[in-house]
Amino acid sequence: MENVVNLCIIGAGKFETKLWKEGSRKLNYTEASEKLKSFGQEHLLRYFDELSKEEQEGLLQQIEETDFSVIEALANRDKAAKKGQITPTTSLEIQEIEAKKDKYESLGIKAIQDGKVGAVLLAGGMGTRLGSNDPKGVFDIGISKPLYIFECLIRNLMEVVEKTGAWIPLFVMTSDKNHDKTVSFFKEHEYFGYREDRIWFFKQEMAPAVDENGKILLEEKGRLSTSPNGNGGWFVSLSRNGLLDVIHQMGVEWLNIFAVDNVLQKIADPVFVGAVLESGVEAGSKVVRKASPDEKVGVMCLEDGRPSIVEYYELTDEMREEKNEKGDYAYNFGVILNYLFSVSALERIMSHKLELHVVKKQVTCLDGEGRQIKPEEPNAYKFEQLVLDMIHDLKSCLPFEVIREREFAPIKNATGVDSVETARELLKKNGAQL
Ligand code: UTP
Repeated sequence: MENVVNLCIIGAGKFETKLWKEGSRKLNYTEASEKLKSFGQEHLLRYFDELSKEEQEGLLQQIEETDFSVIEALANRDKAAKKGQITPTTSLEIQEIEAKKDKYESLGIKAIQDGKVGAVLLAGGMGTRLGSNDPKGVFDIGISKPLYIFECLIRNLMEVVEKTGAWIPLFVMTSDKNHDKTVSFFKEHEYFGYREDRIWFFKQEMAPAVDENGKILLEEKGRLSTSPNGNGGWFVSLSRNGLLDVIHQMGVEWLNIFAVDNVLQKIADPVFVGAVLESGVEAGSKVVRKASPDEKVGVMCLEDGRPSIVEYYELTDEMREEKNEKGDYAYNFGVILNYLFSVSALERIMSHKLELHVVKKQVTCLDGEGRQIKPEEPNAYKFEQLVLDMIHDLKSCLPFEVIREREFAPIKNATGVDSVETARELLKKNGAQL
């Protein structure tokens, strides 16, 4: 396993195919400037002579590790991704799940007890909308006593540990920006009662941020502006950090990936696991019934007959209002970023390149005079891969309905919709003491 420090796996810091290894030879100045020249990015060495020896080495290393080819995606920034033919799909709905709940649950419990299920917490995001510089998971949503987002998630997972008597391996994805803080927070809080040797931390890759003209921004004179490359690269990052070997050694066959910000979600839910196993599919996706036809959520569908997710802005008015034979909306089930993937299917699709989404965001950078600015408005483009694009590479995916008020309390914003306030209300409704 490479770059492993105790339990904490140090990410390779790269986006493309080459893995940087500790001790490998770094680029010298001439090689770095040649690499930059081939991508039209020579300006990144503009302040090189002003830097200390250590800063110079850091910059050369970053230039070596960065995949500049992502910038080519900027040309597509205004183009909608090309989709195939979108048609509705069917979901396993609450009633059907209830009818077979015992069967699903015992299948799921057995798989968990056999060590076949692992969980992956996607915690590499920047949480910009929440407005805190800390990792989102360290955010305290308690009222009378502290209750951290990470704590909520571990509690949810512990319910399954208590039910099954099995400790589910938990892989936590971080990024360069929040890794150390995340790891030390878990340590300080004694992993909220989880078994330390069942948690692995790994870093996702970073991608450079560019201006309107495709020029990479500098965050400091000796540092490129970079940001995590989206949640879609999680499996590649897991593998690059040697954790796929760990997964194989432990006999894990299914991975439940979940977002950091949904404090109500069930993780490694035995009923969900059992339903996916019984259906013989390559993946399952937890979904909720849309609150209204125009809710801004991605919806499970078929694209050219394969599983896919259609974004709310890609639905035409006609599709939004379309009904199925039961009289329900045909595009009715929104994804909540909680998926169960077969590891072997993930390995098969791993080499497929995921689409790069170009998003405009606020990025700290140097101005023309070399002074650092923290813009109020989006000023730069970032490149992100998304989990939802992985779904279309699979042969099959089971949409599995969950009750919204019981399993969906996302914290995206500080106030208003999907916020700390709404999540607190939902937690209370579900019996949590805040
Ligand atoms: P969001 O799309 O809500 O992004 O992430 P975010 O970065 O957390 O928040 P904003 O948009 O900056 O306000 C959904 C999930 O994907 C993870 C997040 O941590 C969250 O669990 N994620 C996102 C990553 O792990 N890496 C990324 O690069 C982006």
